Amino acid sequence: MHALQRCIAPLCRATYDVSDVLTSCPDCGSLLDIDYDWDRLPVPSSMREFEARWSNRRNPLDLSGVWRFRDLLPFARDEDIVTIGEGQTILQQSIAVGGYVGMNPGALYLQYEGLNPSGSFKDNGMTAASTHARMVGAKMAACASTGNTSASLAIYASTTQVFKVVVFVGSGKIAYGKLSQALDYNARTLQVLGDFDDALQRVREVSGERGIYLCNSVNPFRLEGQKTIMYRVLEGLNWQVPDWIVVPGGNLGNSSAFGKAFAELKSLGLIDRIPRLAVINAAGANTLYQLYEERDVRWDGGMSDDDTINTFFAEMDASQHKASTLASAIEINRPVNLKKCLRALETCDGVVRQVTDQEILDAKAQVGAGGFGCEPASAASVAGARLLRREGIIAPSDRVVCILTGHQLKDPDATVAYHAGDRALFDAKLGTRGVEHATFANSPVVVDNNLQKIIEVLERR
Ligand code: F0G
Repeated sequence: MHALQRCIAPLCRATYDVSDVLTSCPDCGSLLDIDYDWDRLPVPSSMREFEARWSNRRNPLDLSGVWRFRDLLPFARDEDIVTIGEGQTILQQSIAVGGYVGMNPGALYLQYEGLNPSGSFKDNGMTAASTHARMVGAKMAACASTGNTSASLAIYASTTQVFKVVVFVGSGKIAYGKLSQALDYNARTLQVLGDFDDALQRVREVSGERGIYLCNSVNPFRLEGQKTIMYRVLEGLNWQVPDWIVVPGGNLGNSSAFGKAFAELKSLGLIDRIPRLAVINAAGANTLYQLYEERDVRWDGGMSDDDTINTFFAEMDASQHKASTLASAIEINRPVNLKKCLRALETCDGVVRQVTDQEILDAKAQVGAGGFGCEPASAASVAGARLLRREGIIAPSDRVVCILTGHQLKDPDATVAYHAGDRALFDAKLGTRGVEHATFANSPVVVDNNLQKIIEVLERR
């Protein structure tokens, strides 16, 4: 095996075997990467070689949109790979959503990760973490989640029966579509009386104490799987590099994985330039925005300003500030992949923006009307692209890819409250959270059970 785990801190860079189960560097506590000895690995001479695998879809590894690219995440033997056909997702040009964002026709693309087996991008990472869990013989796996990670881990555990699973969720902080998945897939589900950050802290403690395999994105193998989202974007663009990748930021696993994907492709000579990255926070959960844009914290070759970061968190604790956004998937105070995300922003000449819940829900309605429903957190990418377009940072002719991270049906409550035209419901669910109007509401029309009345209504529109 020409893969190992390596500490990301430049003054440490300690290495560990891939068979070690780690979520931080035992020497210094920093995050870990999976590193490859590319010189001794068979790397294709062109990304086009991956297309040939489409013709071999009877092999589950070639069917998977993650493992089709296994030469670029070569940490497992083929026989260890755990796959349920994830990653068959598409890049879709959207003229309608592009118009809303302010782009020229044809310049905006949506990478629809809601098409994964559990309905979110998490399956890209969970297939990789599950594979590593099998490699190390894990009997029990766990995660904390705002909903999608738990749904994803639960589906892998139930369909593959490789390990048992326990998921930790915050109380009242999870959309019903996602909670229903964890319950239906028979995952043991603990509702911790706290928020996501509390649940994550506890599951890390419990996993350490009880030798349970942890599947949050501090697990470096998960991010290896999430790199493939970018490979599929490139494939969808006929291997051309877009100008911008726009992604919602929560725990910052995706943005970190994307940065690593592009850094590796560039150093392997498989792409000639790196796209810019825009990470979009919800304004109610804007730690990254605060640190990167307001306090100028940068990766700085791994020497980022920890004093500023620690002061920020100390202030957050002192004021008892808690993240609050209708985009519950990204309602996170302390993003665990902060450092890796800072590194990705450096790699990709990135920017960070925040968008309000009003902007998120309006963008979500436009995504739905444009044909691809998504959950609120996902629409942050489109709202963020629109903001960057208005600021003139994105040009109308730039080629922009917004990542739609989760399926519309994950959070039907938010969608119905927005569209239903029921003021009491709107006020209760959205109004109390600062949303003022359903700008693009498509309200159902109540009509008598009478043919003539129905025809009258139809003729009105
Ligand atoms: N979009 C959706 C739909 C998500 O579920 C998440 C994260 C994100 C965006 C943010 O991605 O953490 O890589 O920056 N959901 C996690 C969960 C936290 O538990 O399901 P990130």
